[in-house]
Amino acid sequence: MPTRNQAALDFLMTRRSRPAKTLREPVPDRATLEQLLTAAARTPDHGKLEPWRFIILGKAAMPRLAATAEQRGLALGLDPDQIVKGRSQFDQGHLAVVVVEITRPVEKIPALEMTYSAGAVCLSLLNAALAAGWGANWLSGWPSHDRGFMTDALGLAENERIAGFVHIGTETSAPPERPRPDVQAITTWVDA
Ligand SMILES: Cc1cc2nc3c(=O)[nH]c(=O)nc-3n(C[C@H](O)[C@H](O)[C@H](O)COP(=O)(O)O)c2cc1C
Repeated sequence: MPTRNQAALDFLMTRRSRPAKTLREPVPDRATLEQLLTAAARTPDHGKLEPWRFIILGKAAMPRLAATAEQRGLALGLDPDQIVKGRSQFDQGHLAVVVVEITRPVEKIPALEMTYSAGAVCLSLLNAALAAGWGANWLSGWPSHDRGFMTDALGLAENERIAGFVHIGTETSAPPERPRPDVQAITTWVDA
């Protein structure tokens, strides 16, 4: 029989995000966060391209990010409620890691695989934070897909984009379990 890591399996079977708006200080310090980032960077990556990097948004950066989201929302002609929503994760944020996807033209490795790897980094970071006892939440929102926001707020290059904002902090409440997929319904067994 293979060696079983029961604690890891128990974690995976029960893991649950904590809504970003319920997170509070304290947040992980730099050394603690570096450990979480190290775990996150230990992610499958076809061709060892490292098609991702991290930007850490501390509390002091949040007002600037919120203001940039508002400026972009106005420039895009969004409704006031969309603008409020777009800036809310920064208005309420204490610490967030921006997982930045970097796409490079590489023969034999489609760009989509770099996207998959960046998404996997987001989940690994989320899981590392949750496993370490922090509350954490993977968010996007319209600013994360807006090229103007990426440039103005974060200085991303043209071949970079936001895979996700992973908010990390102290949890104040655990949300109830949400319905999970019916695995039998989404699984096809091919035996021949
Ligand atoms: C790429 C991506 C983007 C997301 N963006 C948001 C978001 O902007 N706002 C939100 O409320 N939830 C968002 N979610 C969902 C949250 O992460 C949500 O808390 C998650 O579904 C909880 O799942 P879990 O309980 O399995 O951890 C996003 C999820 C993914 C994968």
